[in-house]
Amino acid sequence: MTALLEGRKAVITGAGTGIGRAIALALVREGATVAVTDLDACQAARVAAEAGARAFALDVTDAAATSRVLDEAAAAMGGFDLLCANAGISTMRAVVDLSEDEWDANMAVNAKGVFLSNQAACRRWLADGTKGVIVNTASLAAKQGAPLLAHYSASKFAVMGFTQALAREVAPQIRVNCVCPGFVRTGMQHREVEWEAELRGMSEEAVRDEYVSLTPLGRLEEPEDVADAIVFLASDLARFITGESLNVTGGVRTD
Ligand SMILES: NC(=O)c1ccc[n+]([C@@H]2O[C@H](COP(=O)([O-])OP(=O)(O)OC[C@H]3O[C@@H](n4cnc5c(N)ncnc54)[C@H](O)[C@@H]3O)[C@@H](O)[C@H]2O)c1
Repeated sequence: MTALLEGRKAVITGAGTGIGRAIALALVREGATVAVTDLDACQAARVAAEAGARAFALDVTDAAATSRVLDEAAAAMGGFDLLCANAGISTMRAVVDLSEDEWDANMAVNAKGVFLSNQAACRRWLADGTKGVIVNTASLAAKQGAPLLAHYSASKFAVMGFTQALAREVAPQIRVNCVCPGFVRTGMQHREVEWEAELRGMSEEAVRDEYVSLTPLGRLEEPEDVADAIVFLASDLARFITGESLNVTGGVRTD
């Protein structure tokens, strides 16, 4: 089978674990050269070693650092033409108990972080004529507000709206899409299951069973399920797709 991303050069944010790690491994498998970036420099280095990629420390809420790291990654790889803006955080809290700091933290990483990395990549590509592709990681929560996740949902609705708007601004040179994963087995999900069990007075097993029962394909999602959808959107197979948000949820209803 031919590699779908042969010759492509990619920067991934939040790639030190979970879905970002799976994206790095999938892009390398498909022939891409990859820069793994993460807030946690050690985790980035670990995944980069595993994937055969380069590692960079990057906090996506820092505009100057984002611009600098994208420049450094481009210098190391001879440019780049794919950005996967995947870094994200979540917390669970009822709106009545939510602090301003918690709201701000979710918006800073999930919404502003996507804006800053997308802006830095687009500035570069529009200046030098690169035909770039962006795939942002939104969420099921970008299409359906969930109890205890209002702040997270707001930040992910922002990612989806931003993706649609930017796609129209930078077409036809640059394609911009996002994926909306469902209940993915990562460290983030592990933390959410603990919080939800506590907040709803359920066992962690019952919370996980509920996630599976909401998923027609009948299992929890794996990071690789998301990564393979991102490979598709990044590749020329998706050459006429832009401004879209692709559910990768195993069929969880969002309407
Ligand atoms: N796990 C799920 O069920 C699920 C579902 C839908 C969407 N998502 C989204 O997928 C993406 C990846 O989530 P995951 O489940 O792999 O989570 P995770 O917590 O396992 O990994 C997130 C990574 O992002 C990094 N990160 C956090 N803050 C950062 C910052 N300021 N700058 C750079 N990196 C930062 C972390 O260090 C970590 O390596 C997130 O955007 C998340 O919102 C996850």
